[in-house]
Amino acid sequence: MKKSKQIVSLLLAAFVLLLAACGSTETSKQSGGDGEKKKTLRVVTDAAYAPFEYQDKGEIVGFDIDFVKAVAKEAGYDVKIEHVGWDPIFVEIKGKTADFAVSSITINDERKQTYDFTVPYFLSKNEILVPKGSSIKGAQDLKGKVVAVQNGTTGQEVTEKILGENSKDLKKFENNNLAILEMKNGGADAVVADNGVVDTYVKNNPNDNFAVIEDDGAFEKEFYGLLLPKGSELKAELDKAINKIFENGTYAEIYKKWFNKEPDMQTLKAQQ
Ligand code: ARG
Repeated sequence: MKKSKQIVSLLLAAFVLLLAACGSTETSKQSGGDGEKKKTLRVVTDAAYAPFEYQDKGEIVGFDIDFVKAVAKEAGYDVKIEHVGWDPIFVEIKGKTADFAVSSITINDERKQTYDFTVPYFLSKNEILVPKGSSIKGAQDLKGKVVAVQNGTTGQEVTEKILGENSKDLKKFENNNLAILEMKNGGADAVVADNGVVDTYVKNNPNDNFAVIEDDGAFEKEFYGLLLPKGSELKAELDKAINKIFENGTYAEIYKKWFNKEPDMQTLKAQQ
């Protein structure tokens, strides 16, 4: 009896220590020469979208994360990136409880009514993930099939154009990994999501026997931006920093690290 009590209090003490350790990341760093404190920005994300943002051994990593760290450094800020999930991102940014969000977020007119975006930083498009040997060869073949998507994404939007809104064949999930899992478990014939994500999934999970179907006729070019509260004064500073890392090669370096190829800077810049 006594021994188990001791164990419980030991565990409690360890837990309290752990909490204290987590809390200490809040403090902002001293900046370089002038001794002025750098401001720490709160950045929210949905870290279930590899290789853009995902969790690896408890850490949030990915292309978007490296990108945001480089942009923040250039703009003179520290960042604290927090995984809150996809839908909560929009609640936080609307309510201004976070400074901005990074999450492979496509810039579109509907979102622009409520939020601001930085200049585009990534060129993307939707693709279809299917089991190898599927009869689905293009977007129109999705008709009559069960399709899994992440709720509230452009993947849902383009799929609804084909299946119809509120189609019972459309299964919506809180995150994209759950949509892929549904297909793996036989509950869906396809997943529609961003090319970077489905390409990476196929490469990293050869035993799942999935293939990627592209359909450039059906799925348009999309561009990711950092999502800000409407009217945020940070936008100008972030835009400037993004253009700086476009120019000084930092962006291309990060891009090559994650995608093993050169970014299409011309298309990106032409969007501004
Ligand atoms: N680009 C798509 C969109 O903006 C999907 C983004 C999903 N991102 C994520 N981290 N789950 O709708």
